[in-house]
Amino acid sequence: MTVGEITIRRMRLEDVPAVHEIDTLSFSLPWPERSFRFEVIENAVSRGWVAEAEVNGETRIIGMLVLWLLVDEAHIATVAVHPDFQRCGIGSRIIVEALEAARVEGARRAFLEVRERNLAAQEMYRKFGFAITSRRPRYYRDTGEDAILMTLEGLNAETFEHVNVKTRQRVNV
Ligand SMILES: CC(C)(COP(=O)(O)OP(=O)(O)OC[C@H]1O[C@@H](n2cnc3c(N)ncnc32)[C@H](O)[C@@H]1OP(=O)(O)O)[C@@H](O)C(=O)NCCC(=O)NCCS
Repeated sequence: MTVGEITIRRMRLEDVPAVHEIDTLSFSLPWPERSFRFEVIENAVSRGWVAEAEVNGETRIIGMLVLWLLVDEAHIATVAVHPDFQRCGIGSRIIVEALEAARVEGARRAFLEVRERNLAAQEMYRKFGFAITSRRPRYYRDTGEDAILMTLEGLNAETFEHVNVKTRQRVNV
């Protein structure tokens, strides 16, 4: 599989079917497709992002993120990378670009909820400076898992300077 340059850009209505497919492949409780349409069209506090790339000559959406900007707080509502393209740095890039744009719009802290058993995502957030601040017991109704609340305080222009956000080709694809 040949993956060309990856572009991170705002989510558009025509991206929603591909975004919904990634969501369905990634989560046991995916959002209905109409929720993504709502985020793009109606939700004024929502900032949707996608990662787009040429894959074998075809332009594809391979990652997505939805963030809610509430005054000076950025809440990452969902983020996922298509399973065929994980561990190439795309998740990191989409998060950094979305949070940097939110910072420019006034965000000074960011937070998110993550499943207690999702150690891969927790590790990624930890690298960005997110710290565990609290726990919501039995938050996920399918497994009864706790949600771990992770927070990044003091979001500023230097926050991601130390993070390597270069995308790379995966060895086995
Ligand atoms: C979490 C997710 C978005 C990460 O996207 P990604 O493009 O694979 O992440 P990156 O390649 O940028 O990885 C960044 C860091 O996260 C950590 N990480 C990512 N996947 C990992 C895994 N499977 N195991 C351990 N650590 C992992 C690593 O520290 C990694 O850095 P490294 O590759 O230099 O070691 C992706 O795994 C995914 O879509 N998962 C399913 C949906 C999900 O869990 N979303 C988060 C909900 S809160």
